[in-house]
Amino acid sequence: MTHEQKTPKNVSVKRSDRVIERGPGESQRENMAQTNMARQPRKTVVDLSPEAVRQRIADVLAQVERPGMDRVLEWLENSDFFTAPASTQYHSACPGGLALHSYIVCRLLRVKNKKLGLGLSQDSVAVTGLLHDLAKCNTYVVQTKNVKDGKKQNWKGEIVDNWTEKQVWAVEDKIPLGHGEKSAFSLLKLIELSDQEIAMVRWHMGPYDNEKGFTRAAAVWPSVVALYTCDMEAAYIIEARKTAQSKEA
Ligand SMILES: [Fe+2]
Repeated sequence: MTHEQKTPKNVSVKRSDRVIERGPGESQRENMAQTNMARQPRKTVVDLSPEAVRQRIADVLAQVERPGMDRVLEWLENSDFFTAPASTQYHSACPGGLALHSYIVCRLLRVKNKKLGLGLSQDSVAVTGLLHDLAKCNTYVVQTKNVKDGKKQNWKGEIVDNWTEKQVWAVEDKIPLGHGEKSAFSLLKLIELSDQEIAMVRWHMGPYDNEKGFTRAAAVWPSVVALYTCDMEAAYIIEARKTAQSKEA
């Protein structure tokens, strides 16, 4: 016979060192609570509010011991870093998306650095992870565009495309220097970077714009590959889940 079967209803039972009051229907309520907990989607980093992301980024940057770091946060605050999207339509294409994406990349890089024994300092992880996309700051604009939105019936009774005006994100880069290059240049105006950090930021887009250059850099600094893959994982796995969830809702 078990302890549960012996215990009469409406009495206190002692489990370990805690006294738990039990009443009629208690275990049923516990089961229901557990079922409800299981049904609720788990909150992850993509569910952070823009203000929470801003605070976490400020906290991480505040830990970096490098001359000029105060200028970095000031620069970010004066740009649209905390309000811009991360892309026009591919990942985190929403206000605050750029900051969220940057924070996720930084977290992934922290894990990868430890797991793969890359030997990056915490300062390097913070600077390259959080600031690799500085080139995207002050480049996104909202435009009105005519887009197809399903079908409709016209005055003749024919089914035709339904065109509607929609606000969309577009890129207007006033300082086009190349994405990785511009991020590195922008950062170098604010703080000093090691050669490895410059390479990581410069080549974080991977082999697409210059395969030979990326491969050579990756052979010297494996961390170049790490930042590139963290960038891809953030955009195509973690942020993609949030995009899929918001489309379902
Ligand atoms: Fe990125």
